[in-house]
Amino acid sequence: MKRLNRRQFTSLAAASAAATAVVSSSRPARAIAANEVLGVAIVGANGRGGDHINGFHADKRTEIRAIVDVDSAVGNKRADQIEKMQGRRPEVFTDMRKAFELDSIDIVSTATPNHWHALCGLWAMQAGKDVYIEKPISHNITEGRMLIEAAKKYGRMCQTGTQCRSSGALRPAMEFIAAGGIGDCNFARGLCYKRRKSIGAIGDYPVPKNVDFDMWSGPATMTDPKVTRQQFHYDWHWQRHYGNGDLGNQGPHQTDIARWGLGLMRHPETILSYGGRLGYQAERKDPNYIDAGDTANTCVSIYDYGDKCIVFETRGLGVDDSADEEINKLFMATRGNKVGVIFYGSDGYVVQESYSRCLVVDKDFNIVKEFKGGQPHYENFIDAVISRNAAELNADATQGHLSAAISHLGNISYYLKEDNRVSPKELSDAVAKASKFDDNQATLERTLKHLTDNGVDLDKYPVSLGAMLKFDNETEKFIDNPAADQLLTREYRPGFELPKVTA
Ligand SMILES: NC(=O)c1ccc[n+]([C@@H]2O[C@H](COP(=O)([O-])OP(=O)(O)OC[C@H]3O[C@@H](n4cnc5c(N)ncnc54)[C@H](O)[C@@H]3O)[C@@H](O)[C@H]2O)c1
Repeated sequence: MKRLNRRQFTSLAAASAAATAVVSSSRPARAIAANEVLGVAIVGANGRGGDHINGFHADKRTEIRAIVDVDSAVGNKRADQIEKMQGRRPEVFTDMRKAFELDSIDIVSTATPNHWHALCGLWAMQAGKDVYIEKPISHNITEGRMLIEAAKKYGRMCQTGTQCRSSGALRPAMEFIAAGGIGDCNFARGLCYKRRKSIGAIGDYPVPKNVDFDMWSGPATMTDPKVTRQQFHYDWHWQRHYGNGDLGNQGPHQTDIARWGLGLMRHPETILSYGGRLGYQAERKDPNYIDAGDTANTCVSIYDYGDKCIVFETRGLGVDDSADEEINKLFMATRGNKVGVIFYGSDGYVVQESYSRCLVVDKDFNIVKEFKGGQPHYENFIDAVISRNAAELNADATQGHLSAAISHLGNISYYLKEDNRVSPKELSDAVAKASKFDDNQATLERTLKHLTDNGVDLDKYPVSLGAMLKFDNETEKFIDNPAADQLLTREYRPGFELPKVTA
């Protein structure tokens, strides 16, 4: 079986628009009596689904009544687990629509792969359910906008799974920045320095026998009953047909925090990414090795908002001992993964160094203040489901959309020009104009050094320079770039088109 090629992935927006199905009307939500326990359906119950199970089980206002997973082994195992936890076994489904028909379900909480998020959310809201949708809320920008519209039109609560929005550490830290705690602050750097080894060679691998692959594929093109990756679950993150790479996996947490701290309720004006899927030949000691992933494992994305800027750095290769002196000092560590956000203020820094801890650091790299706290994000969602006040949601569909879009925009810049492999000199010339807020040359040099430290021969495997994109906030389209506009959506497989949002 062949890897899905770029043409298949980028097929025309027009095709999908023409194929969009119309679901004539939404189903009204049932009336909920005071103190009534709310029924939850968990859709997608493997890795992250486990956290959803624990989250809703811990809240006595909800009961898990349905588990939906297209892998029946996963679904049944989770149902066994839940039966032990709550004393009542949930119904098990492989088709989410069957669960959405049940009156006993009030809430749909979804942790499917990314390519299913929007369709699941739209179907659920049309069935009168409130939805908790994992990050990134969308697989493309059009989907995020549709979820906002649907939540509004159907009067549904739609929470995004960016749990840091409810963090007892993050909330006061973001208020501290807004109140001028580190002086003027208009630049934030998100980091995903997180080791990701190769997912194995591209090839023909069987779909596990318990998986309904038609339903797993859903809106995406269905390949023959084989996949190109060795590990069926989770590793789809690194195949763009289903996932969005680490820019859209870890990224939506950090770019969301960066956008929050800078007070940005809009999209960037210009976007430039550079990077590649690099280093696996050295890792495998095979110059001809081709890894099954097709998203960048190393990428720098520069998002310029005119008056502010976010830079997001993805590093999937070894990050120990990399020569990032200032970053090491701010994270108080030289070795190991570094995932977080640095806010650069005129008087100091705020460092989000975990979901439950933020540091205020002075110009001499001393910690001067610390914020700590947990993330009651499911509780926040359930509060809003009960109050029917969408303003109570800490991460509504609009927040989810804006933060997912940051990942999509960065990926689009890379995807459009991934074959544009250039010399360090050309990269240097291009980044010089990217934004006035970062030391673009220093960021580039550190990135190239990180690659060579990991054995990447940059002459043989040069870094790709992405497209410099301009984005129109009003129309949510690119300016003078029809090729980029095509990537605002995807071609949806018949039967899995996004339903039109109707009153
Ligand atoms: N908020 C967080 O911190 C956080 C952490 C991890 C993962 N996530 C998100 O959770 C999602 C799931 O990630 P994961 O690591 O658990 O992936 P996974 O591949 O381990 O699990 C996905 C599950 O969904 C099932 N599935 C696929 N299509 C389905 C469908 N149509 N209906 C029902 N079930 C379906 C699969 O069979 C699988 O069991 C991703 O979007 C990821 O970004 C969020």
